[in-house]
Amino acid sequence: MNSADITPPMSPQRAREIASALDLRALPPEFYANPFPVYAALRDSEPVRRMPDGSFFLTRYADLVAVYRDAHAFSSDKKVEFTPKYGEGSPLLAHHTTSLVFNDPPLHTRVRKLMMGALTRRAIAEMEPGLVTLVDGLLDRIEARGGGDLVEDFASAIPVEIIGNLLGVPHAERGPLRDWSLAILGALEPKLTPDQEERGNRSVTEMLAYLKGLVAQRRLHPGDPEHDVLTRLIQGEQGGEQLTEQELLQNCIFILNAGHETTTNLIGNALVALQEWPGQLDWLLRTIGPRPDWQALEPLLSTAVDEFLRFESSNQLGNRRAVQAVEVGGVRLEPGALVTLCIGAANRDPAQFERPDDLRLDRVNNRHLAFGFGIHQCAGLSLARLEGRVAIGRFLARFPRYRLTQPPVRGGRARFRGFLHAPFAVA
Ligand code: HEM
Repeated sequence: MNSADITPPMSPQRAREIASALDLRALPPEFYANPFPVYAALRDSEPVRRMPDGSFFLTRYADLVAVYRDAHAFSSDKKVEFTPKYGEGSPLLAHHTTSLVFNDPPLHTRVRKLMMGALTRRAIAEMEPGLVTLVDGLLDRIEARGGGDLVEDFASAIPVEIIGNLLGVPHAERGPLRDWSLAILGALEPKLTPDQEERGNRSVTEMLAYLKGLVAQRRLHPGDPEHDVLTRLIQGEQGGEQLTEQELLQNCIFILNAGHETTTNLIGNALVALQEWPGQLDWLLRTIGPRPDWQALEPLLSTAVDEFLRFESSNQLGNRRAVQAVEVGGVRLEPGALVTLCIGAANRDPAQFERPDDLRLDRVNNRHLAFGFGIHQCAGLSLARLEGRVAIGRFLARFPRYRLTQPPVRGGRARFRGFLHAPFAVA
């Protein structure tokens, strides 16, 4: 595959037609498989597009950065949008309006500060040996069976353990975490079915009940606050503010979810993309070599992981609400205007990235927005990058001739881009 297959040249007239047909609540099936031609049409013809529901859809890199930078004009607080969406008193509403990502300072600042204290560079580096053991164990099992499913047997099995460790969730209790996470984040899709809503609400209720018990245990037996995020959140700042019980529980749910599907999709998307870009796969395999020196390879794998994040960003959409009159991309937004930030489009903007539809694993100056930007930039980005490096690097070193045995199955979501299944054989 090459860039011409992904974004064929488009006339201005065609670009306008595609852009004006976009409705996030009624996306055609082909959009989920390949949204990039639609993104390109929007970037070219209407980069700040007014949607049928009156909100604005932004696709240019520079416009996204401008919005992310201005946290005074653009709020992350979602009570206005989510109250009619989930309904007063619903578990989904309580959860999504209490997590730090959907709040402004001061709640955001308090929670983020506590979290970041346990996600230091040192704390993350110390996770690497355990991560290597986990990944190698998964690879052993795959080798014994001659293959498996890239998502089920590999990509999704990694974040659940890493995030489980971060909050000290006992191994035997990690089973339901992935389904809860999928259901709760799935409820963020632009259009929600009654079934998705029911599963989302049920998952928040079940997860809260589970976490109440875990928190009670941890209060009795605190962990090391240098490493244990839960202990940090329980203890709060020394002499400073404490989180309320609701803030504590809802933000634990968020951290368990935030690093889950996103990281699964980083790993799954990367291993599928390499099959579609055999020249890049060969290059990476040659560079890794038959007897990898992992320490020496770290800069190269880091560069490659960032390119996977840019090229197939796991989180394609973000949201903000204008709280004052403000101009973006030459369009005036009134207070209350809802804005969708299309990370997937910004990360393919030719004004920022050379040949943006090409996967180039040695890309330099790759200032992609896959982790967002500004005060809400992903708190787990170093952890996600570490997981990506270890998982993708060790997979390729072990199975250089892996191949997909059936077409991979997409997750079918606009916000979170990834695969549900990708069956493969090791040779
Ligand atoms: C490839 C993996 C990941 C991707 C693509 C990703 C993406 C993002 C993005 C785009 C945001 C910003 C949302 C916004 O501004 O509205 C964000 C926030 C956040 N992410 Fe991640 N994330 C990943 C992994 C993780 C992991 C592993 C963790 C867990 C430690 C994590 C924890 C968080 C938290 C706590 C926030 C909220 C930060 C804030 O509001 O200040 N993420 N993430």
